[in-house]
Amino acid sequence: MGKEEKTANRGQWASTQGFIWAAAGSAVGLGTIWKFPGKAYEGGGGAYCLVYILVILLLGAIAMLGEFAVGRHSQRNCVAAFHQLKKGWGWVGLLGVLSSLIVMFYYIEVGGWVIRYILAYIMEPSRVFADPNAYFADLVGGDGAFPWDGAVLYPLIFTVATALILSGGISGGIEKFNKLVMPLLLVVMAVLVFATLALPGAMDGIRFLIKVDWSTINFGTILSALGQCFFSLSLGMSVMVTYGSYLSRQENLVQNVWVICLIDTVVAFLSGFIIIPAVFATPNTAMGGGGSFTFTALSGVFSLMPGGIYVGLLFYLLLLFAALTSSVSLVEAIVSYLTEEWGLGRRTAIWSMSTLIFFVGMAYTVSYSGENAGTPLYLLWFDRRGFYPVTAAAFIELLADRLMIPLAALASCLFVGWVWGTDQARLEIEQNGHFPFRWGKLWAFLIRYLAPTAIGMILLCGLWFGFSLS
Ligand code: TRP
Repeated sequence: MGKEEKTANRGQWASTQGFIWAAAGSAVGLGTIWKFPGKAYEGGGGAYCLVYILVILLLGAIAMLGEFAVGRHSQRNCVAAFHQLKKGWGWVGLLGVLSSLIVMFYYIEVGGWVIRYILAYIMEPSRVFADPNAYFADLVGGDGAFPWDGAVLYPLIFTVATALILSGGISGGIEKFNKLVMPLLLVVMAVLVFATLALPGAMDGIRFLIKVDWSTINFGTILSALGQCFFSLSLGMSVMVTYGSYLSRQENLVQNVWVICLIDTVVAFLSGFIIIPAVFATPNTAMGGGGSFTFTALSGVFSLMPGGIYVGLLFYLLLLFAALTSSVSLVEAIVSYLTEEWGLGRRTAIWSMSTLIFFVGMAYTVSYSGENAGTPLYLLWFDRRGFYPVTAAAFIELLADRLMIPLAALASCLFVGWVWGTDQARLEIEQNGHFPFRWGKLWAFLIRYLAPTAIGMILLCGLWFGFSLS
């Protein structure tokens, strides 16, 4: 097949708005909603939020613009995109495809748990509320039994849902779904903010979030903001390259990047304004972040709240929207590579990848509480102290967070800054002066020097010093 033929029958976004919702849908994910509040809390509140905004502006938006430019210029899948701009550089895109695959291994599991919680809040909230810890343990096999629900049934439902959305194609599936779900997600968040703000004691949480105390900022908190920024914006995984490749040249990339970063950051902050005040208002509950906090501690919070069943139900619904719109983008990056480079039909690519992800993903949940379940599944991880065993669940997350995502993000920044070149990228962004890029020089500087330095630091601190980034 010639190049023209290959690109001619690719999908395209039907509207700017659709593209923005889709890219924002990819960015707004579990990480945005359940990691940010925990990190903001650890980072001391207001000062961390300001650092986060700065990091988004100086690095996140900068790197995202680079990825969009690569994708739109080449109009190809992420591997072919890098290769086309510079022969022999397709591996940068391949790193992204691999990272997407690894993240999917746990995304579908956790996405499945979210579905289970939605059903639980509808059908048996009293059982969840009676003992939130036991309820979660029961789901993920912490009680010793094989976790059929947590590892097989619900992840399967989540995987099939993702595959069905993708089957609709770019504008008919991904775009339509995001255009429907993302505005809904924002509405649900707004309702939840009001619900938690009404709680007695919630104001302490708000005060904490807006109080700026610079003494809480140190190297560790800055690093944590950096890691969060890249993960939250879905950078370094070729997803934005892929989404950018379905864009027409009539689009103003810079403007789109601002809007997408804004949506993602607003959602992260709103999530902070929901979770932190709610936790502050609940006696004997410690703030945290991530999976088990969200399913156990937060369920405890909902159980003590007036109308907690409804608040909880809306919250897990929100998580489901966030997770689905992200998983769709992750699989799309892989699928576009398989269809365009390996010649697979779209349907074959979608379902074969879904099957692979489903089976490997099972190991995540099975090992999640493996010690208790009598099915320990260990793999080796390393830092400067040498190798040590971790559960498969931890391994999958470490591999993505500490190695693959930062490595792929570093490679793609270096590629745009030094290999393809910022001049070429700016031509693509400006489209013959059609979209003047006033900050072009500053952008070029940031993507050439600041972004690689910062990402290099994340890599080094994570891999060598074992610094926990998530
Ligand atoms: N941004 C997503 C979140 O906040 C997670 C994520 C990281 C992601 N990289 C991605 C999602 C790539 C889709 C594509 O949870």
